Amino acid sequence: MPHPYVLLSAAVSLDGYLDDTGPERLLLSGPADFDRVDAVRASVDAILVGAGTIRADNPRLLVNSPERRAARVAAGKPEYPLKVTVSGSGDLDPTAKFWHTGGEKIVYTTDKGAERARALGLAADIAPLGAELDWRQLLTHLHDVRGVRRLMVEGGGQIHTQLLRQGLADELQLVLAPLFVGDSKAPRLFGPGPYQGGRLRLVETRAVGDVVLMRYEPTAPGVGVAASAADHHWLRLACELAERCPPSATAFSVGAVVVAADGTELARGYSRETDSVEHAEEAALGKVEPGDPRLASATVYSSLEPCARRASRPVPCARLILEAGVRRVVTAWREPDTFVAGADGSGVLAAGGAEVVVLGEYEGRAKGPNRHLLG
Ligand SMILES: NC(=O)c1ccc[n+]([C@@H]2O[C@H](COP(=O)([O-])OP(=O)(O)OC[C@H]3O[C@@H](n4cnc5c(N)ncnc54)[C@H](OP(=O)(O)O)[C@@H]3O)[C@@H](O)[C@H]2O)c1
Ligand SMILES: [Zn+2]
Repeated sequence: MPHPYVLLSAAVSLDGYLDDTGPERLLLSGPADFDRVDAVRASVDAILVGAGTIRADNPRLLVNSPERRAARVAAGKPEYPLKVTVSGSGDLDPTAKFWHTGGEKIVYTTDKGAERARALGLAADIAPLGAELDWRQLLTHLHDVRGVRRLMVEGGGQIHTQLLRQGLADELQLVLAPLFVGDSKAPRLFGPGPYQGGRLRLVETRAVGDVVLMRYEPTAPGVGVAASAADHHWLRLACELAERCPPSATAFSVGAVVVAADGTELARGYSRETDSVEHAEEAALGKVEPGDPRLASATVYSSLEPCARRASRPVPCARLILEAGVRRVVTAWREPDTFVAGADGSGVLAAGGAEVVVLGEYEGRAKGPNRHLLG
């Protein structure tokens, strides 16, 4: 299920609020940051906001710069990104600016919401997704049907919270504004409740006028959760196995171990162990009898995130793992864009019901035998 690259964008006050409780939208950013946001908008195929943001802020969500719009057109893209909103109720104001500015629009909603939205005669496509709205289904639809490869999500809090919790955000661009809201009834960026994973990876900080932009990469679903001492032991072994791979200029060196729930090692392998295109997980799983009942509760330890796509064989390792019946994977780092753009083995595994744990402290070790590929 391919998804677009999902970029969450938001501004918060120093005390962590998205807005105040007044009727007007609170301006958190300054002119320099609005211009930065305009450039990000110009770079995406679609912009999504929740119905709550349309009701509260009545935004237009345009690319304001004529030069940026002209550059989009020159590149063969529509002048404006597709505008996307999400509403369970279908209770949308047909006079909102969202519908009457910019290019194409689409509303993702429930079957019930669609009845209501259609009755309003909105100038937009209405896409019902069943009794309830499923984010993976929505993202797949945007990708496959609307051709969206890069999606910017501009809030509000409910939307950001769900995408982050479900491990569907690839990047968070957060702007911290130098002011306080000081009202506990104001909306927060991320709501209370459980969050998967531990620390996000900080990839950039930059002052933009008087606000600070922070760019984070949420790591794979399940980062840092439920890792035991045994997980560390086996992942270390997988990293050691990666050192044994015959060197290659066109493929990663990876080690993998399959371990039963009781701690019994079922198999181990490494890249190119028996042939020139073999992957580590494939080498290891190939040594376990198919249908071995221990696979259902086993863990695959792989020094690199299992692949989601590969040129060398039809079935990528994330699928091989799911097909073997394994539902837990522990890895040291996520696949970079070296050979495949936007590889998301963790997404494939998570969509197949597997838990993926990333123990980032082994990333350096796992990268060791791949230095020559990483630039
Ligand atoms: N500072 C910033 O960067 C920024 C950016 C954007 C927004 N904001 C602020 O955020 C506030 C609005 O945020 P919000 O959290 O109230 O609203 P929101 O996240 O924009 O939208 C929530 C609405 O989206 C729909 N929705 C969300 N998840 C859904 C699901 N899983 N299935 C079906 N429908 C779903 C529902 O619409 P229905 O009710 O129609 O079912 C829900 O009420 C405003 O105060 C705005 O100013 C700030
Ligand atoms: Zn692979």
